[in-house]
Amino acid sequence: MKKELKVPRIKNGTVIDHITAGNAVKVLHILSIPSKPTSVVSVAMNVRSKMGKKDIVKVENRELDPSEVDKIALIAPKATINIIRDYEVAEKYRVKLGDEIIGIARCSNPTCVSNAKEPVQSRFKVLSGDPPRIKCYYCEREPEDISERII
Ligand code: CTP
Ligand code: ZN
Repeated sequence: MKKELKVPRIKNGTVIDHITAGNAVKVLHILSIPSKPTSVVSVAMNVRSKMGKKDIVKVENRELDPSEVDKIALIAPKATINIIRDYEVAEKYRVKLGDEIIGIARCSNPTCVSNAKEPVQSRFKVLSGDPPRIKCYYCEREPEDISERII
């Protein structure tokens, strides 16, 4: 069988691979693409892989902040982050949430202290990484659709 190369390899930057199929656009949003200045970005959606379909995002000449990686973990728990240097995969790791996430998602309870005018940073306990489940540290509410809660 002929193996097609859907998206060209990159020289330097970050490849976010094994994104839950359909969620590439959310990843772009998390990375503030296109508003944040970046060089070339390539996206492949519904690529066939060993474990069903996946999306891939390749961002040239940019590495990700830890908070961006945590946000990606909330919508694509199986994603791998590959840092590419001079065409080689210099680092590879799977996204993984710690025990708590602070300041990356908003509580869905409008009366929660973290949604008050006073500046209290949102804080969630991580109940499970895959599928991602989080619970507000303050009011204990579990958001239903996490992707809608990402800051
Ligand atoms: N990649 C790229 N440019 C490079 C090197 C790698 O775009 N210069 C991409 C590959 O296309 C792949 C990802 O980075 O989507 C990881 O590359 P690699 O580790 O070589 O692939 P696999 O072994 O298939 O990765 P995994 O085991 O994580 O599925
Ligand atoms: Zn809350």
